Amino acid sequence: MTEDALKYEVLASDGAARRGRLHTAHGTAETPAFMTVGTAGTVKGLLPENVADTGAEIVLGNTYHLMLRPTAERIAELGGLHKFMNWNKPILTDSGGYQVMSLSELRKITEEGVAFRSHLDGSRHNLTPERAMDIQCLLDSNITMVLDECTPYPAEPDVAADSMRRSMRWAQRCKDAFIKRPGYGLFGIVQGSVYPDLRQESAEALQEIGFDGYAVGGLAVGEGQEVMFEVLDATMPHLTRERPRYLMGVGKPSDIVGAVQRGIDMFDCVLPTRSGRTGQGFTRRGPINIRNARHQADPRPIDPDCGCKTCSSYSRAYVHHLVKANEMLGPILLTIHNLHYYQELMAGLRDAIEKGELDAFVSAFHRQQAAGDL
Ligand code: GUN
Ligand code: ZN
Repeated sequence: MTEDALKYEVLASDGAARRGRLHTAHGTAETPAFMTVGTAGTVKGLLPENVADTGAEIVLGNTYHLMLRPTAERIAELGGLHKFMNWNKPILTDSGGYQVMSLSELRKITEEGVAFRSHLDGSRHNLTPERAMDIQCLLDSNITMVLDECTPYPAEPDVAADSMRRSMRWAQRCKDAFIKRPGYGLFGIVQGSVYPDLRQESAEALQEIGFDGYAVGGLAVGEGQEVMFEVLDATMPHLTRERPRYLMGVGKPSDIVGAVQRGIDMFDCVLPTRSGRTGQGFTRRGPINIRNARHQADPRPIDPDCGCKTCSSYSRAYVHHLVKANEMLGPILLTIHNLHYYQELMAGLRDAIEKGELDAFVSAFHRQQAAGDL
């Protein structure tokens, strides 16, 4: 472990779930935490103060997008990503491996790294473990992720093992290349597809190298919630309780609740932001689609139990109208609400863990979600 790099305190626990606090050079984040996705140096449609108002304490940026445009060097020249995007709180960056595989063209993975062509202009790039560390350092990211391969799903056991073991060799190269700074940390990423023995091997290999936190990758790739929870059940006992654990790219509210019960401390997902842009609103009684005609004359807010800016001032009928008319305020109001909903969920989980009442909280959550929209 990189000494004093990134302090993590476990403040309380309830079963496997933990209530913690992460300390970075740009302030603290309470856990379990939901990290808002700010892929290209912006949470789409929102000013940083709007993001902070939702309760967000840490945002996620993407190496892949930022290395291509405007480039990590340009952001470093301008004082780093915090200053560039006017977000002075913690930032975690993903390493690019996942986005290269889903977005770029003509990509090729070798032992050295991944060679690919940009989805923007077809230009050629190489991302190696060393380059991924360099870029995230130039961005001044508080939490750097190792370069890994998110093993495609489904994968035969031998394919999954080869992919995971290469990611573990890359993780060692990342650790060797990472420059230690107080308040900054490096997280390893567990792979191994759906195979418990591979997940265990990966978790042990990473802890042998020693990281400031441990992510679980390669999930939410089409396996479904039941299998995802089985993989977590097989993985979590092999991850130290001393360090934060991060489930990458997850998820729906019920995914987050189940993963918190299994000991996950950090999440990120495009769902509240992306689905907000297409008309989906999350509520305590399950998701709604604001484009639906049943909302066109509804004077109530999206979620009557929500205290966000959107719900305190605007009706379903108005947001329905904005979205139908392709007005840019529609997605903005939904994004604000959805992010607020996610942050309230996390605050509720943190509070329940502190009180030792997580089971009751989870039962009430499921009961309410199942009730359906009025
Ligand atoms: N985001 C979602 N899943 C993954 C993963 O497996 N690896 C990385 N680097 N990012 C992810
Ligand atoms: Zn709201």
